[in-house]
Amino acid sequence: MNFCRPLLWETQEICYNKSVEFFAVDWGEAMAAIIKIENLRKVYPVGKERIVALNNISFDIEEGEICCILGTSGSGKSTLLNQLAGLEKPTKGSVTIGKTNISVLSETRLAKFRQKYIGFVFQSYNLLPAYTALENVAMPLMFRGVSKKKREQKAKELQAAIHFCEEKCIT
Ligand SMILES: Nc1ncnc2c1ncn2[C@@H]1O[C@H](COP(=O)(O)OP(=O)(O)OP(=O)(O)O)[C@@H](O)[C@H]1O
Ligand SMILES: [Mg+2]
Repeated sequence: MNFCRPLLWETQEICYNKSVEFFAVDWGEAMAAIIKIENLRKVYPVGKERIVALNNISFDIEEGEICCILGTSGSGKSTLLNQLAGLEKPTKGSVTIGKTNISVLSETRLAKFRQKYIGFVFQSYNLLPAYTALENVAMPLMFRGVSKKKREQKAKELQAAIHFCEEKCIT
């Protein structure tokens, strides 16, 4: 397993220069790009100022790659993740996932796309405390109209895949 394709870019052209590094693990097989980032730019207007959080970034992520984004505080990591996940629209450029350019989708279509194809594990977890771990895992399927039986079965499969034991989180 090799760490490869380190990319480095500069952000924050107005305030100060910061850099973000992106690493992808190369599994040694030729794979197709599953996420394509082209000339991505994100500018936040703050009063009369404009914060350039991402400045013309382009790179691909291939199917099956495990990627890390490294950078100092304020260098644009969260902004980039928000763009990749379709939580925010770019100022310029595009994010294409599979064959879908998510940057041009309406909010409704984007919400449906996220529900179907995007998974998040937040730093603060954002679990619903009144639900069990199994119910938390199964919940996204509820919004897809999957039956209780099927979503619990799927959630159990996923928990088993990561060797998760429900009792562990009760103690
Ligand atoms: N909603 C926003 N409105 C205005 N400026 C923003 C907004 N979100 C991010 N920024 C600015 O964009 C830049 C990049 O912020 P971002 O949160 O992406 O950095 P980060 O690398 O995730 O930092 P950290 O390591 O502290 O989480 C920062 O200058 C930040 O202040
Ligand atoms: Mg952040």
